[in-house]
Amino acid sequence: MALVEVRQLQVAFGEKTAVSAASFAIEKGETFSLIGESGCGKSTILRVLAGLHRQWRGEVTLLGEQLSSGERFTGALRRNVQMVFQDPWASLHPNHTISRTLTEPLKIHGETQITQTVADALQQVGLSADAGQRYPHQLSGGQRQRVAIARALLLRPQLLLLDEPTSALDMSVQAEILNLLNRLKQQHGMTYLLVSHDADVIAHMSDRAAFMAHGQIQRVFDREAMQHGEHRMG
Ligand SMILES: Nc1ncnc2c1ncn2[C@@H]1O[C@H](COP(=O)(O)OP(=O)(O)OP(=O)(O)O)[C@@H](O)[C@H]1O
Ligand SMILES: [Mg+2]
Repeated sequence: MALVEVRQLQVAFGEKTAVSAASFAIEKGETFSLIGESGCGKSTILRVLAGLHRQWRGEVTLLGEQLSSGERFTGALRRNVQMVFQDPWASLHPNHTISRTLTEPLKIHGETQITQTVADALQQVGLSADAGQRYPHQLSGGQRQRVAIARALLLRPQLLLLDEPTSALDMSVQAEILNLLNRLKQQHGMTYLLVSHDADVIAHMSDRAAFMAHGQIQRVFDREAMQHGEHRMG
């Protein structure tokens, strides 16, 4: 079953068309990636699928539910679709401890056993329990991104949207985080939609990668094509 189906997606910002006619489907359990030049519309597609950008045209089906433009995500959709951003600085509240950052989404969704869930979340991304008492500025970049991943996983989402999740990190830390993401995907049976401009990251992570240009998907590369380096353009 396709977990995500996008047909003829169009997104405009005023006069500017960011996504003109993007169509793709992502199967359950797959890591599907978007590649292409800066400004070609990758993040815009992720923001639509996260419910963060709500003005669009076309057809979008997420987890079997057909979305309508303008609709706010609620219930299962809100739990099951989570996003990790490029810059963990921007996505973590500077004046909140990590434990508070992780507690809030659980409260909003009426979860019980919050203390245990937060401890488990820290542990599964390889952070010690005392990281919970710290503030974002007291952590390294890699640790901050681990917190952002822990937060995204708290509600056990089916679909994780990853927008350049490691491009702000050093090479060695980058590899650790990518391996962590792959391990978590196996453990939780998740599906990933990944954006990266790094051809090595794409080849390491993806089952399929879609090359975008001019707001459309021009070509889709499978594992074999990526092994041959066909996705390395320019
Ligand atoms: N909120 C916005 N208001 C106006 N224009 C926007 C907005 N968000 C994106 N755009 C424009 O839409 C186009 C696509 O942007 P998008 O962020 O999706 O590109 P991208 O492929 O993610 O690029 P990058 O690789 O640099 O992250 C760009 O021309 C961008 O300037
Ligand atoms: Mg982007």
